This record gives sequence, C-alpha cells and structure tokens, in this order.
Amino acid sequence: MRIVIRNIRDYTHDRHRTVDDTPYGGGAGMVMKPEPVFEAVEAVVAEILAENPDIYKEDIPVVLLTPQGRLFSQAIAGSYAERTNIIFLCGHYEGVDERIREHLVTDEISIGDYVLSGGETAAMVAADAVIRLVPGVLGSADSTVEESHANGLLEYPQYTRPPVYRGWEVPEILLSGHHARIADWHREQSILRTAAKRPDLLEKAELTPEEKQKTEGLHKPHK
Ligand code: 6GU
Repeated sequence: MRIVIRNIRDYTHDRHRTVDDTPYGGGAGMVMKPEPVFEAVEAVVAEILAENPDIYKEDIPVVLLTPQGRLFSQAIAGSYAERTNIIFLCGHYEGVDERIREHLVTDEISIGDYVLSGGETAAMVAADAVIRLVPGVLGSADSTVEESHANGLLEYPQYTRPPVYRGWEVPEILLSGHHARIADWHREQSILRTAAKRPDLLEKAELTPEEKQKTEGLHKPHK
C-alpha cells in the first residue's frame, strides 16, 4: 500500500504557476484550468504504467472529489479497495473546467451534503475508508465484515469488563456463553438501533420477512 501526493501546481509552465482562472461568461470564484490538471493526471498514469507494465490505463479510475459527485458509501469504498490503483483528483468548489469532467474523470464522489473548501480533506476521508479494507492493511479482514454499515445496519451495543460498572450491568445474555442466542441478540439489537437512529438505512437493509414484521410500528420515519 502506497499513497503518492502530487501538487497540480507543479505541472504548470508559467512563472506564476497558475492553476485557475476566471470563468468564461462571468460569475463568482475561479475555475481550475484544464492544462495542469490533465498534465498532472497523465504524469501519474504514466508513472503507474511504467512500474506496472501489465496494467491498462483504462483500468485506473480518476475520481474527482466534488460536492456534485455521487454520495460516497461503504459499498463504493469496497469497490475501490479491489482496485490496484486509484487517482483521487481534488477539485475546488468554485469548480474545475468542464472538459476535465468530460474527458479525464471517470467517477465523481462527494462525502456528504456540505461544502468543503477543497477536495483534499474529502480525499483523505475516502482514502481512509478504502485503505482499511485492503487485506493485510491495518486491522482489516474479519473485523470489517461484521461492522457498522457492512451489512446495511448499525452496529449492536458492545460491552467489555467489568460486568458491573457504577451499578450499570452488562446485558445478561452476553455473559451466558450461548453463542447462537448471543448472535440472535446482536442481530435484534442492530435492527432496533437502526430503526431508532437511521430508519433510512433500515428501508434498504436485507431483513427476513419475520424481522421486517418486527420493525413495523417501530420509529416510522415522520413524513
Ligand atoms: Cl468531495 N469536495 C468538496 N469541496 N466539498 C465536499 C465534498 C467534496 N464532499 C462534500 N462536500
């Protein structure tokens, strides 16, 4: 696993290292110029291909971080974790020249419905979510398949020692040693918690007909 960071300004050719300019047609803010962005991405692609002669350039996603992108998710993180290379291109909210979108970028991602000053922090968020899924990186593997969002549900409540803290007890079932019953309890708690905190997720989660019925009448989202 390797992260390489490139400064788009290093791919300019003028004395002032200009990366943006005023928008044609007027309007507020600046727009990122196509030349340094194309050259930066093409240079990175060339380096990847030089190091990996078996890779096709079409197989390297160029992901633009932008509030206009599709909402980043655990599922997208999982799909990126399967790629051998990804280029994250950090735009600025005022925008990038549309030709970058049309002819360079393969994917547009937003990390949420709020505006950041640039795509850099969003790229860090996305990269972290992807990297931790790569086998052999960090504490990946087992823990990631059971966790929050991997199954479309929130995680069940967890406890550790001591069994009683300030009079607050750990649920008895967890101390029982009945693994099958504990697994059922975990599932039930995940569903109840998702219904209470994120009913929007529950609508998309895969529930058995029986589970579905149990959730009816629980915290229906207010219309
Ligand atoms: Cl990816 N970029 C910017 N500038 N703002 C954002 C974002 C990205 N995702 C949410 N807000």
